[in-house]
Amino acid sequence: MRKKIHFRKKIITWQIVLFAIFVAALFPLINRTVHRIVRDTLEENTSNLIDAIDDAFSEKEMIELLKQQEFFSFYRMSILNDKGELIYDSHLSRLLGSNFEALTPTKHPEVEEALKEGIGYAISYSNLFKGRFAYVAERFTFRGKTYILRTAFPFAQLQELIHNFELGFLFFSFLVLLFFNTIIWFIFSRFTRPISTIIEAVAPYQRGEMEEIPEITLPSKAAPDDEFTRLAQTLNSLSGRIKEQITSITAERNEKEAILQSLGEGVIAVDGEMRIRYINSIGSKMLGMPRRELLGEEFPSGRGKVSEPLIERARQLLITCSEQEAILTDSLALGEEKKVYIDLIAAPKGKGSGAIIVLQDKSSHYKVLEMGKDFVANASHELRTPITIIKGFAETLQDMPEMSREMLDEITEKIVRNCERMDNLVKNLLTLADIENIPESRFKDCDLVTLAENCRHMLRSVYTGAQVDIEKTEEEMTISADGDILELAVINLLDNAAKYSKAPAHITIRLSSLKDDEAKIEISDKGMGIPPEDLENIFGRFYTVDKTHSRRLGGAGLGLSIVKNIIDKHEGLISATSTLGEGTTFTIILPRTRHSRS
Ligand SMILES: Nc1ncnc2c1ncn2[C@@H]1O[C@H](COP(=O)(O)OP(=O)(O)OP(=O)(O)O)[C@@H](O)[C@H]1O
Ligand SMILES: [Mg+2]
Repeated sequence: MRKKIHFRKKIITWQIVLFAIFVAALFPLINRTVHRIVRDTLEENTSNLIDAIDDAFSEKEMIELLKQQEFFSFYRMSILNDKGELIYDSHLSRLLGSNFEALTPTKHPEVEEALKEGIGYAISYSNLFKGRFAYVAERFTFRGKTYILRTAFPFAQLQELIHNFELGFLFFSFLVLLFFNTIIWFIFSRFTRPISTIIEAVAPYQRGEMEEIPEITLPSKAAPDDEFTRLAQTLNSLSGRIKEQITSITAERNEKEAILQSLGEGVIAVDGEMRIRYINSIGSKMLGMPRRELLGEEFPSGRGKVSEPLIERARQLLITCSEQEAILTDSLALGEEKKVYIDLIAAPKGKGSGAIIVLQDKSSHYKVLEMGKDFVANASHELRTPITIIKGFAETLQDMPEMSREMLDEITEKIVRNCERMDNLVKNLLTLADIENIPESRFKDCDLVTLAENCRHMLRSVYTGAQVDIEKTEEEMTISADGDILELAVINLLDNAAKYSKAPAHITIRLSSLKDDEAKIEISDKGMGIPPEDLENIFGRFYTVDKTHSRRLGGAGLGLSIVKNIIDKHEGLISATSTLGEGTTFTIILPRTRHSRS
């Protein structure tokens, strides 16, 4: 349905009001004008009567001529002399016969005026005829004498005439008003049609039925440079700009949302009434409540929740930071055995509009610190053991300068072995640190078959009796790797396989290709095996299944962590399966080409 244009109604109403004021103002003027016309007509008629009678030869004939005129007019006609005495009266003579002459002359204002001015006019009440009359008196000269011809017209008839005229005027005015209003209505309907078109075009957007403000197209008849066309063009360009702004704001919002979502920290924004305006998924996870339950709601109380202390601390921090308008920080540890460390930073949004809180899970940071502490403790312990032994033997040598040759050989042999152990340990620690910093340039094409053969050769130079079989599906298996450190990883695995097997060790290296451009290296032995509970820890630094056994064999538990680091550096995977007393298999899967070149 076409929307009603209210200002069209307003204009019509105003027009009616103004027209009514105009008519009301004009009415007295019309009334006066009509009176004037009537008076002029009466005066003219009187003059005509004078013209008709003043050709007579005598006063008597004049009266006769006037009597003849009675047939043509319905006026009351009288003739008076210059003293105001009645000589003849059409109605009185009919009423009173010739006795009217006996009537005392009365002073009539119109007669007085006519005697003075030549013509007089008055409206007055006639006692004789019981009614109001309009009188016209005109002076004329007949045969050297002055007379007055007086005509009287019933005022009621005159008034009716005027009234009819006024009614006619009002009716005519109404017709004019109707005519103009109809024309104005149609003209405005035509003029305001473009406005209706604009309103109708925008309405679906206003009602939320459309996503965007639609393009406004005016009818082709519309003049290209009129105000409505320009208005439509302005709205179109405006809506275009709004659209652009909305798109950029939406993109910006999505971008910010994506950034906030991808953060490792929980972010929560509250308004002045502590209602949650924004929360990212990490934030909701940390509070232990679904995001949709939190958005738009008041900050939860957290009673009965696992994360209750965190919720309460966050709530307190938000309130205090909003009140004090200052950035506040806090931290807390949750849980008993497995502790979760959380840092809280609250910042006010300003002017009582709420605050933002960032929740950082610092558990891994603390874990790294713990690991660092462990690492230093382990490393110093591993170094102190051989140092203590060396020191002990050196003191023995000092105290017993004359010891036997055999004993001296035994002691020096032990000192050398412990020095080697220390050297080995330091080397391994340096290797571990080095792996982190291997440059990309060291990754080159490397044949795994050649690498395996080299490793077998190296192992057999130490474990002469060891049997190492190489099983391969291809003659050559090239992958992108740092050959030197990959060799170190395989040697470490072979060394373990030989070390934790009864001599002569029996080891198999299996090389195969996997789909998805991957290579597989399996190293199996028939040694003592690893207990299942230790399997998941063997890649940890300084981890050994049996400390004394390993130490006896010269190991500090760093070999497998070096292997794991090397495989990680090659973007590969390493796993171990083992059966106690039967043997162990280490499986490495490596991509043939490097994915990331960081
Ligand atoms: N093939 C294997 N068979 C049985 N146990 C193994 C085997 N490989 C590793 N282990 C166990 O895993 C532990 C960790 O091995 P890792 O190579 O890290 O240390 P290590 O050999 O003791 O010392 P390092 O390698 O530093 O000289 C070993 O102490 C051993 O108990
Ligand atoms: Mg080892």
